[in-house]
Amino acid sequence: MTDATRRHLRLDALAYGGDYNPDQWPEAVWHDDVRLMREAGVNLVSLPVFSWPQLEVSPGAYDWAWLDRVIEVLWAGGIRIDLATATATPPAWLVRRHPEMLPWDADGRRLEFGSRQAYCPSSPVWREHVARMARAMAERYGEHPAVVLWHVSNEYGDHVARCWCPESAAHFRRWLEGRYGDLDGLNEAWGVNVWGQRYTAWDEVEPPRRATGPVNPTQLLDFERFSSDALLELFRIEVDVLREVTPDLPVTTNFMSLFRELDYWRFAEVEDLVTDDAYPDPADPRAHVPAALNYGLMRSLKGGQPWLLLEQAASAVSWRDVNVPKAPGRMRIDSLQAIAHGSDGAMFFQWRQARYGQEKFHSAMLGHRGEHSRTFRETAALGRELRRLAPVKDTRVRSRVALVVDWDAWWGSTATESMPSQCLDWLAQARAWHAALHALGHAVDTVRATGPFDAYDLVVVPNLYVADAAQAAALAGFAADGGTVVVGPFSGVVDATEKVHPGGAPGPLRHLLGIEVDEPWPVPDGAHERVELDGRAYDAPVWTEWIEPGAEASVVARFASGALAGRAAVTRRGHGDGSAWYVGTALAEDGLLAVMRLALADAGLPARERIVPDVEAVTRSSADVDYTFVLNHGAAVAVVDVPAGAEDLLGDPGTRTGPRLVVPALGVAVLATPRADEPPFITLSETTE
Ligand code: GLA
Repeated sequence: MTDATRRHLRLDALAYGGDYNPDQWPEAVWHDDVRLMREAGVNLVSLPVFSWPQLEVSPGAYDWAWLDRVIEVLWAGGIRIDLATATATPPAWLVRRHPEMLPWDADGRRLEFGSRQAYCPSSPVWREHVARMARAMAERYGEHPAVVLWHVSNEYGDHVARCWCPESAAHFRRWLEGRYGDLDGLNEAWGVNVWGQRYTAWDEVEPPRRATGPVNPTQLLDFERFSSDALLELFRIEVDVLREVTPDLPVTTNFMSLFRELDYWRFAEVEDLVTDDAYPDPADPRAHVPAALNYGLMRSLKGGQPWLLLEQAASAVSWRDVNVPKAPGRMRIDSLQAIAHGSDGAMFFQWRQARYGQEKFHSAMLGHRGEHSRTFRETAALGRELRRLAPVKDTRVRSRVALVVDWDAWWGSTATESMPSQCLDWLAQARAWHAALHALGHAVDTVRATGPFDAYDLVVVPNLYVADAAQAAALAGFAADGGTVVVGPFSGVVDATEKVHPGGAPGPLRHLLGIEVDEPWPVPDGAHERVELDGRAYDAPVWTEWIEPGAEASVVARFASGALAGRAAVTRRGHGDGSAWYVGTALAEDGLLAVMRLALADAGLPARERIVPDVEAVTRSSADVDYTFVLNHGAAVAVVDVPAGAEDLLGDPGTRTGPRLVVPALGVAVLATPRADEPPFITLSETTE
């Protein structure tokens, strides 16, 4: 079995369904479930995610009978299974026998049993038992024809992403020894001469606990790396068992979008299929914009391969302070947005709304009113519609623009309080840069700072605080090959051990950008510095820098206020047909739009201006057809210009659209046209309130 064959789900349509928790319901309900699943077009369910205690009722005593029956009922109904290894939460008996497996917080408090994920990722006991449980599941069900995917654990790091228990501390020391070789290496890497932190024995080294004052930044960064690695090791333990017993079945673990705590590039290398849980807040009318970035990450984690939205809410969740339901149509457009961005289906948490427990107020496909619930009507209608979208399965989003996501830079720039400003936030910058490109009509992929960049004309790097020579060389190679790269503020500042690069920022990016940064100049709260670009002034509310442009860099924009007035704010250095831009400030929305317009033009890409920011167009392409999703996330009717003769897969069969298409509020069209060199250009004609 090759990796490539494991990348495809054995489903002949887009995946549709949700988490299924039959052990919360009497058996009679299961048959009703399958009847209604069929009515709703469900073809895949995830189970039994949290059922270890119901499957191994006491140490070594398994009760498979109920799960055997559930699987047969589903199989008989034509429903396939994303089979969980059931290791998302330990049974009480295991925790009580081994209380040392419970995680600790940073203050040394043990977190108690009573919720879920009550384990330390480094615990040898836990690791031994998850391997045992994964093997038991694989041996019992791995050959069952209904099982098409392994669902390992659940949302690693959701509740416990970092653990400070003695076992984690010991594991952290081993990890450091592996990284630095010996104590001299550690002392050198951590720069211990500052504030007198020299270590003379390994047992003096601890995870960064609450200390008397700011903790060593390299210690903090290493703890972030270690903690992500500890969970990755845990994931690998199960994956290795599953690959040994069932080499043909694809493996996934569900991600949590752009999640700070885990380096998903490295997790994705271990799995066959990327899956994501996405919960855009219905109370936020712009939630679809960061959602597009999350989906761009998901499709990019395995090089453009289709991924799967494994969880979303049919309506309200139950974990925000105020849990607003999704208005009619919102769940449909949210699902179709994920599919537009490369998901080969739309799944939910969960199929049937719970009657008890922590999630009884969390919506489900089948609400408390059962088949009379609004969510059921809407999910059943969407399930019927999705069958018409079967042709988009296995097609790929074509994007010419990528945004660099780098967890080291994210962790390094946010783990320590000892920074020029706490207000330059990695995620906020990444989202702002993405939002500008999104507003200019681009579906943005994500990429590592080392590439590969060959699919792109424009690569943007909102922040690369931690940077090394290999990343700089890859970005320089892209520019030398004719690409346009745009680097954001406070990049190239430190190396992997958090030492400022000799000569200061932008360190290894100096040649690429053709500038030096003399000093960061953060903007105090409430003050708004100004940047002038092409005769217009834009707000720079958070961050500015004293930039010294070299002879080869030209100044694109200058600061227009404060101590830096008249000095360079945005620069460009040409590299043959390519170019490298530096944006030494955090611009507000309109300023970023202005910069991105210029960068797109420099890259030879169109800026697809939108009259209504809430209408999004994304194209997925097969070898000969472009499927362009036109999604109106807003509250106004939009009229868009589309290619004449396009067929709307969601419209009346056989009806041709164009050159104009009316897209109602929350409406979606999926236009099929012959594949063109460039995805169809969708412009907005007008809007009506
Ligand atoms: C996460 C979990 C699910 C459920 C949902 C609720 O995605 O994986 O088990 O708790 O949140 O939104």
